[in-house]
Amino acid sequence: MPQKQIGILTAGGDAPGLNAAIRGIGKTALSHYDMQILGFQKGFRGIAQNQSFVLNSENLAGILTLGGTILGTSRDKPHKMAIGGKSMDMTNAIIETYEQLHLDCLVCLGGGGTQKNALHLKNASLNIISLPKTIDNDVAGTDMTFGFDTALGIATEAIDRLHSTAHSHHRIIVAELMGHNAGWLTLGAGIAGGADVILIPEIPYTIESIADAIKRRVQSGSRFSIVAVAEGALTHEQARTVKVLTEEIAAATDKVERKNLKSKLWQHEQVHINNTLNLSRQLEESTGLESRTSILGHLQRGGTPSAGDRILATHLGAATADFIDQGNYGVMVAYKNHQAIGVPLEEIAGIKKRVPLDHPWIETARKVGTSLGD
Ligand code: F6P
Repeated sequence: MPQKQIGILTAGGDAPGLNAAIRGIGKTALSHYDMQILGFQKGFRGIAQNQSFVLNSENLAGILTLGGTILGTSRDKPHKMAIGGKSMDMTNAIIETYEQLHLDCLVCLGGGGTQKNALHLKNASLNIISLPKTIDNDVAGTDMTFGFDTALGIATEAIDRLHSTAHSHHRIIVAELMGHNAGWLTLGAGIAGGADVILIPEIPYTIESIADAIKRRVQSGSRFSIVAVAEGALTHEQARTVKVLTEEIAAATDKVERKNLKSKLWQHEQVHINNTLNLSRQLEESTGLESRTSILGHLQRGGTPSAGDRILATHLGAATADFIDQGNYGVMVAYKNHQAIGVPLEEIAGIKKRVPLDHPWIETARKVGTSLGD
């Protein structure tokens, strides 16, 4: 049997655990299956422009604990890539590189957007396998994505630290966490860090409800409060507008109308960027307590992966090499009930896993008296 040639790329936002996954795939592919591996640089751009280097036992060593990705990453899409100031469809260029390098499979490590791009390339007849990575934990078909556990730890520690200063000054501190349009990170860190209010995109909030919860705490003797707010959390009114626009976009048959609606939604979302600062100011006005804001941002994506993410990424990475050996392509290697399983890309691409309203974490938060702002 000729040696199998595999390509690996990392796409979308980086996340702790990417290097652990690259190492897991690489070490298993090299030592168990005698495959050859190429790493493409900067996501799909690297394969479109044929920028790669050989991954071997030397450059795969010592990367387990490294944050980021040794391959680099980008948010480029195969079919819409900025080249020389123009948006180009680079699908054919990717196919050309794939054939020129005699690849047997391309492994794409990424979040929701990457799963869609992986399906696009699968539909273009390439052998594709993907892995689920993101601190947002919002990829469908997997119990967990790698990157999430590390971000959860960082966000929890931040909430812990904010407690003592909020307590000393009798202040409200509004801590904004990442997560895009899903509340996993904020809900998890909010519960683990004992936030008094947790606001997630799945549950729209009102300022009155949050202010009431804070005033109740003051009445019971707690003159400080921690509000953990997801970057995608919305007021009731904002959530209604987003819902209407999203439905209109889905129903639009005319290309121009669709484009206009998308731009309207984008403009609306630009206003939401200030939600956390506005919330902090409004809470100060309605409670009479001083309020401060802490936006954690990319801190949550940086640094060394947690032990949990190292194990998950290594497990899924090693299993990926097994899938390649078996010729089991067109799947995302997902984590289900502690097992690595292959889920067909068609079943998960384009589906966002948000927090279900009956999820035990939501019930738990309410039981311990946390306000969810609704
Ligand atoms: O998807 C991961 C994530 O960190 C989201 O939580 C956040 O909304 C987004 O990426 C930020 O993207 P960028 O790094 O491109 O600003």
